[in-house]
Amino acid sequence: MKKLEDNHSELHRRREFPDWEKMYVEQAVETMPWFHPELDADLDKALDRLSIDSGSFLDLGTGPGTQALALAERGFRVTGTDISKTAVRKAAALTAEKGLDLVFKQDDILKTGLNKKFNCIFDRGCFHVLAPEKRGEYVKTASELLEPGGYLFLKTFSFEETMEGGPYRFTPDEIKVLFEKRFEVVSIGESRYYGTLPTLPKALFCVLRKR
Ligand SMILES: C[S@@+](CC[C@H](N)C(=O)[O-])C[C@H]1O[C@@H](n2cnc3c(N)ncnc32)[C@H](O)[C@@H]1O
Repeated sequence: MKKLEDNHSELHRRREFPDWEKMYVEQAVETMPWFHPELDADLDKALDRLSIDSGSFLDLGTGPGTQALALAERGFRVTGTDISKTAVRKAAALTAEKGLDLVFKQDDILKTGLNKKFNCIFDRGCFHVLAPEKRGEYVKTASELLEPGGYLFLKTFSFEETMEGGPYRFTPDEIKVLFEKRFEVVSIGESRYYGTLPTLPKALFCVLRKR
């Protein structure tokens, strides 16, 4: 019982995050824990399973832009956004002149200036760094940015991850409670957060469909 309680308080303790802009100014993106040059394997499988191979994608919290690039290379029309203007500048520089349907914009999802709708959103690591009191606002905005029936593919740290520090962790039930008003919860699977850490953190990969 004690262990369960410890795990619960660890999950919900207030977390601190870097100044994103400062981090992208000072650090090479290739050294960041989330840097992963290939398309996330969970998204890859989900797209195959759902037979989604065209349309528009928002890569929300795009950071180094690797996921946005991989999606554009598959033929999607992609917009990558991030709160850090240096992240989007670096992502745009890396992907310029590739002749892809890919744009990057600085945008804070909690006060978004985006005025178009997308068929799909990929969030690999943005939701799990937002303050808990902002989660409702995020869910509303993500739903409003999707076309009817559009998909939100969401990757977060899992409640099973025990590393020191890092982002918020979620149980499948918490994800259900947070999203089910606006999204059908299609699936929540256990996975890993691919990147540069020697042990890949435990993650959840969630497929959510706008109601
Ligand atoms: C863990 S990183 C993941 C980056 C990228 N999705 C990837 O998989 O490589 C989280 C990203 O979310 C961005 N971010 C944090 N808060 C944000 C917000 N309110 N709106 C948009 N992006 C945000 C950060 O700047 C950072 O690039």
